[in-house]
Amino acid sequence: MKVLKEIQALQMISDYHRATFKTIGLVPTMGFLHEGHLALLEKAKQECDIVVVSIFVNPAQFLPHEDLDKYPRDFLRDYHLCNSSGVNYIFYPEPELMYPKDYFTFVNVEDITERLEGQFRPGHFKGVSTIVNKLINIVKPHKAYFGQKDAQQAVIIQKMVEDLNIDTEVIICNTIREENGLAKSSRNVYLSEEEKQEAAVIFEALTEGKKMITDYKITDTESVKNVVSNYINRKSDKIKLQYLSITDNVKMKELGNLKLYKGDIIISLAAYMGNTRLIDNVSFNYKYQ
Ligand code: PAJ
Repeated sequence: MKVLKEIQALQMISDYHRATFKTIGLVPTMGFLHEGHLALLEKAKQECDIVVVSIFVNPAQFLPHEDLDKYPRDFLRDYHLCNSSGVNYIFYPEPELMYPKDYFTFVNVEDITERLEGQFRPGHFKGVSTIVNKLINIVKPHKAYFGQKDAQQAVIIQKMVEDLNIDTEVIICNTIREENGLAKSSRNVYLSEEEKQEAAVIFEALTEGKKMITDYKITDTESVKNVVSNYINRKSDKIKLQYLSITDNVKMKELGNLKLYKGDIIISLAAYMGNTRLIDNVSFNYKYQ
């Protein structure tokens, strides 16, 4: 496994692998790897000859008041995890290399970015799509792997790749969870053990919402949302819901009554546990009958 900190070196390596008909898989991350990331690495390893992981805490996707400075970092730990996962290259650039002085170019997916997360983190997705586009230009992967954990991010990246005719296949992998259902996240280190236990309520509530739609055939999404938010409020006084949405998975628009709807549904939310902001979602295919 090699660690690369330069753009041109990686571009040349990618050209070489492409010229010898090797398939390249890219797993973009911000490091502090956990089992969610490792599942993406594993999938990339299964499907590609060469696996490139990028580790870059992307300043462009953090809002001024957010946790850029305190975002957890541990390169040595990540290095060993990548090494034992069979990664071929880690791309580990300095921020100044990715955003030199007088950096002026950003990619912005419109519309989809304005809802849900976008409403509370304006500009966040512009930073995400810009860095992912840059990483794809640097690594030139055949396939790039993302997690369903960040449902809206996954939808936005798929749209960017489609709209900009980027020659990379986007693969979305399932959310990996703790035993109690809490979605794995680098930010979970901000939680105490007690908070981690209590945060299980989030996935329980989402699962309850899904059950209402799939098992109890409730079509009024407002009632489903009420059940989900009441579940959280009843079971935890520490978790404060920021938003709760029931949307499709293409435009991520709120669905009203589900009677005429057919397709994928995502129930997603953001919630604060103390000062820690958590996001999670469940997605499933739906047809009214
Ligand atoms: P990061 O939060 O490090 O996540 C990297 C990738 O791992 C993302 O595709 C994310 O959806 C996926 N992931 C995180 N937790 C997961 C879990 N519990 N189960 C499955 N997949 C999970 O997301 C980012 O970084 C950044 O926005 C990035 C795409 C790297 C751009 O900077």
